[in-house]
Amino acid sequence: MMYSVKIYGAGSIGNHLAHACRTKGWDVLICDIDPDALKRTREDIYPSRYGRWDPDIRLSGANTGSDEGFDMVIIGTPPDTHISMATRVLENNPPKVLLIEKPLCTPSLEEVQRIVDLKKATGTFVAVGYNHTLTENSRRAARILAKNTIGDPITISACFREHWGGIFTAHPWLSGPKDTYLGFSERGGGASGEHSHAINIWQRFAHLVNAGRIVEVSSTMDMVTDGIVKYDRICLLNVKTQAGLVGDIAQDVVTEPPQKKVRIQGSNGFLEWFVNLDGGHDAVCYRDGKGEVIEETIQKTRPDDFKGEIDFIEAILNGGDPEDAPISLERGLETMLVIAAAHVSHRHKRTVRIKYDRGYGPEAFEIS
Ligand SMILES: NC(=O)c1ccc[n+]([C@@H]2O[C@H](COP(=O)([O-])OP(=O)(O)OC[C@H]3O[C@@H](n4cnc5c(N)ncnc54)[C@H](O)[C@@H]3O)[C@@H](O)[C@H]2O)c1
Repeated sequence: MMYSVKIYGAGSIGNHLAHACRTKGWDVLICDIDPDALKRTREDIYPSRYGRWDPDIRLSGANTGSDEGFDMVIIGTPPDTHISMATRVLENNPPKVLLIEKPLCTPSLEEVQRIVDLKKATGTFVAVGYNHTLTENSRRAARILAKNTIGDPITISACFREHWGGIFTAHPWLSGPKDTYLGFSERGGGASGEHSHAINIWQRFAHLVNAGRIVEVSSTMDMVTDGIVKYDRICLLNVKTQAGLVGDIAQDVVTEPPQKKVRIQGSNGFLEWFVNLDGGHDAVCYRDGKGEVIEETIQKTRPDDFKGEIDFIEAILNGGDPEDAPISLERGLETMLVIAAAHVSHRHKRTVRIKYDRGYGPEAFEIS
């Protein structure tokens, strides 16, 4: 089927997702409030990443143009703009699918409950862009865990540790973190927001081994403040789930070369999951009860990071109703609550309990 997509934000993610949608043959319009961003998309980002500009992509400078008639709207703008833009889209022209980039919002969680209410009222499938849950290594890991061969889960450890020099190389028009939300944890930047794929994939695996949601968070952050920027360059979490499973999550913007991995230790074996094990491969490595270690490497390119996500959304646009959607709003909110709880824990130097029955706001946190 041919679908029409409107993408807000002609930045890094806007280009990735435009390309993934065009690979499907869908009609794509990209909007940005910054004319320079639109020019960069056409002349620089898109051709340098994908070989040539695609003249069938429409570009528009309008911020508030109508969202009417689009099957999917993507919000690929900075995190502190996500909630107001998503609210406007859902209130006026709810599409079949609304994909909001990660992290869902700022750690203040301001107005996020409104999105939950509008999702219910409109029936729109609201997704949060944690694309790593749908890549081939994640699908294979889910299939392996479903066989229960590693035994009872004992602990999960996850990290996304990556120096953000690569992000600034990809954004040469920025002189550093101060020029963007990245330099401000309160705006959704810093390691806690930018590398929140680690929290999210930890939660994905905790759900797959039936350990439930994270209910306790204890964090230590290394904050950088210089009178302008204020961000966590290292965010370390100890967490516990409803089922009592404990584990750790590390996110930082200083590690070079990067490490992006998860390890699940079971009573009878282990499973490890890797992003970019080397330049061109993701991987899954596991040992079941028989003691044989199996490593499966999966050839991939950067566009492949978004293919599974867009395939999944295509199934929804085609009328599918996924029971367990790893990119659902609920899953994105779970991650957002842990990011917010991490900031509260760091500030108070205490463990924070998350009370899911109190809604999606600061009232969900109990400081012990
Ligand atoms: N899933 C992933 O792997 C992934 C990768 C990169 C970025 N992201 C996320 O995507 C979001 C954007 O990141 P980025 O690196 O693309 O940022 P970016 O700075 O490259 O691009 C953001 C663009 O949004 C535009 N913008 C701001 N407000 C707007 C508005 N009201 N209407 C239209 N355009 C507007 C800006 O002018 C800018 O061009 C962030 O939340 C980030 O965490 C996710």
